[in-house]
Amino acid sequence: MTDLAEFIAGLPKAELHLHIEGSLEPELMFRLAERNGITLPYRDVEELRAAYDFTRLQDFLDIYYKGADVLRTRADFHDLAAAYFARAARDGVVHAELMFDPQTHTDRGVPFEEVIEGLLSAMAQAEAEFGITSQLIMSFLRHLPEEAAFETLAMAQPWLDRIEAVGLDSSEVGHPPVKFAQVFAAARDKGLRITAHAGEEGPPEYVYQALDLLKVDRIDHGNRALEDPVLTQRLVDEEVTLTVCPLSNLKLCVIDDIARHPIDRMLQAGLKATINSDDPAYFGGYIADNYRAVVDARGLTRGDLVTIARNSFTGAFLPDAEIAAHLARIDAYVANAE
Ligand code: HPA
Ligand code: ZN
Repeated sequence: MTDLAEFIAGLPKAELHLHIEGSLEPELMFRLAERNGITLPYRDVEELRAAYDFTRLQDFLDIYYKGADVLRTRADFHDLAAAYFARAARDGVVHAELMFDPQTHTDRGVPFEEVIEGLLSAMAQAEAEFGITSQLIMSFLRHLPEEAAFETLAMAQPWLDRIEAVGLDSSEVGHPPVKFAQVFAAARDKGLRITAHAGEEGPPEYVYQALDLLKVDRIDHGNRALEDPVLTQRLVDEEVTLTVCPLSNLKLCVIDDIARHPIDRMLQAGLKATINSDDPAYFGGYIADNYRAVVDARGLTRGDLVTIARNSFTGAFLPDAEIAAHLARIDAYVANAE
């Protein structure tokens, strides 16, 4: 495993499923609270971490939205993303597609501009400092009405050339993709790529809706698609990338034991599965921790890890030439590691 752990850390990879607000570590949360004159309802970092005990998605979301309240200024968003990139660089991440939830901030009175300009400045810095390229995925909160998503899309208009895709996150059950069919059509018309959380807690029907109604380019999570063999085969045939998040699945009880994580079943079925960290500050690990967790639990081979890293680039919202360059980089790394 030491061997494989080293191999994982050096393996060039893309992170495709990362909520930047979910990378807010307790230490930074306390620092930003102090900077902004906010009193957190926790005595210290230990007490806050102890509250990260979830039995379902909603338990996590309740605490995650509260934590985001310390993010007020563009400097806060910059520092948040800069901390993520510094950590991701150590895990061999060379390209990251960051989801951000504007509504979590604009609904508290934080201007859209503060959010996005802070993130963009950290993204530019990460490229200069670590050579990590990155893009933004603007995610709509599905517990809010479609009208609110339209308002967010309108607010984003001046920055649309800096936003690659739109996504759909927050409370899944009871908020099916069909609720957002119109706003995703509008986003597609603006040339944005499309992704959506589906099949994390929601049924296979939500994955069908994401494909047929939102016309997604990829699916975030997708675990429950495995319950439907016809759907699974369709995802294989259409080469739909799944952004799988093993430690998130464990923490949110999508699986009851990491030893039963379906990542190897996904690969064996021919699904384009990738491994990602989702909300690393809350779920106990960054991307390489997620790779290592399933190596330990499911005995993935070096070949499986290479397949997963390759899938992370073929599934990225990047031009073909850049994808090809990343794949060549993996080939060189593997050849060198032999
Ligand atoms: N699922 C749904 N919404 C989210 C998540 C997640 O894992 N993380 C942040 N918002
Ligand atoms: Zn997610």
